[in-house]
Amino acid sequence: MLNDRDVPYIIKMRGCVHRTSRFPLTEERGVREMADILETKNIGLRGVKVADTRISDVDGTKGNLIYRGFNICDLVQNSTFEEVSFLLLNDRLPTRPESERFQSELVSERETPGVVFEFMKMLPKSAHPMDVLQATIPVLASYDPQLHEETREANLKKAVRLISKFPTLVAAWDRIRKGFEPVHPHPDFTHAGNFLHMLTGTVPDPETAKDFDTCLILHAEHSFNASTFAGREVASTHAHMYASIEAAMAALSGELHGGANSEVMKTLLEIEEVDRVKPWVSEKLRKGGKIMGMGHAVYHTEDPRATILRTISERLADRTGDRHWYELTKAIEAATQEEFERLKGREIYPNVDFYSASVYHMMGISRDLFTPVFAISRISGWTAHIIEEKFAEAQPKPELYRPDSDYVGNYCGLQGCTYIPVEERRS
Ligand SMILES: CC(C)(COP(=O)(O)OP(=O)(O)OC[C@H]1O[C@@H](n2cnc3c(N)ncnc32)[C@H](O)[C@@H]1OP(=O)(O)O)[C@@H](O)C(=O)NCCC(=O)NCCS
Repeated sequence: MLNDRDVPYIIKMRGCVHRTSRFPLTEERGVREMADILETKNIGLRGVKVADTRISDVDGTKGNLIYRGFNICDLVQNSTFEEVSFLLLNDRLPTRPESERFQSELVSERETPGVVFEFMKMLPKSAHPMDVLQATIPVLASYDPQLHEETREANLKKAVRLISKFPTLVAAWDRIRKGFEPVHPHPDFTHAGNFLHMLTGTVPDPETAKDFDTCLILHAEHSFNASTFAGREVASTHAHMYASIEAAMAALSGELHGGANSEVMKTLLEIEEVDRVKPWVSEKLRKGGKIMGMGHAVYHTEDPRATILRTISERLADRTGDRHWYELTKAIEAATQEEFERLKGREIYPNVDFYSASVYHMMGISRDLFTPVFAISRISGWTAHIIEEKFAEAQPKPELYRPDSDYVGNYCGLQGCTYIPVEERRS
């Protein structure tokens, strides 16, 4: 029997489940609406709207991605990662003076406290770059003069510091683990070009830097994905920006999220040759395995980022004079689509990670840096979301996330378990 004191009031609004305890609930309506809630359980929150956001929109049916009103395709044609970061953080594109000021702020924050490199030098060279990047975040936090200043202005400054320093951290660790000294940031290079410079110690090729800038724009933001939600959830507890970013980073590291790009490269290296693609893909799918970089929780058509990355992959292939990785990726895409349709009777499309693997590989970036490189870009979206969450910029007031669960443990019956001292327990 449902008791109206026990069942929270539920209003369904635009497909979104809102709960409040202010109004009484009739038993009949309670049962019906509890059934709605049950349908949203154990499905990884797919399709459950947990908040409003003004930052981005993913149209999974049409295959559109919008950052603050601007289509991603227009942004990659006309904008830069720096300008897109301003847009995500500030709600609008910058004027020229604002753009110049923002750019110089980013440049001025590129260096990290010296202790960070010393800390990295103490780590085992085998440490995964994603773990190292995550481990340096609390170190950065302890050097942030505004760490506990919870104004929008101070959080914007923290966001700029994080966006600026992420490339420095990733490049420095790559060099330190390979036995080289880190290369310091160069103020004359763009955000994208500077990262490639710090990685290699050379002057970046302008075309490659531009393509990398496009990759950064494409990965910068994607609504309530796992890492962004993790970051927002932690921010909703009033944890500071750096703690929230750490949570987001941890979520990104998994192979079903940001870790997929490096898994795609692993697949490419394992398959090696185009003529081995079909049997490899068939066997993988027949055994219930996943083809990394294919499929998406929201897009039911091609991910628009994959379309652009496919073009970049082909362009890089032509530029480097080696079409192998591009052709191999295309063959895996085609074989997966054919076999998936045959086995499941439905279509599957590449996601953002699929072509980014061959792109980063052709840019000379090590496979285990692919996910940290994703973080270098997504830090803009994360920080924008954390600010939106902290200052309730898309909802009436800040709200602590506290979802519910049904206890399905079945142990000692209705009376509960009797505590037995350890010496009297039997296995
Ligand atoms: C992203 C992902 C987790 C979305 O999963 P999802 O929301 O469950 O996707 P769907 O509901 O469309 O999946 C339906 C079916 O297709 C299968 N499927 C989805 N993506 C698949 C893939 N890449 N390879 C093989 N099978 C896949 C699922 O296992 C599921 O099978 P089932 O019905 O037999 O259980 C999933 O596509 C995936 O694991 N892709 C590979 C990892 C990846 O690239 N991640 C990066 C995402 S940006």
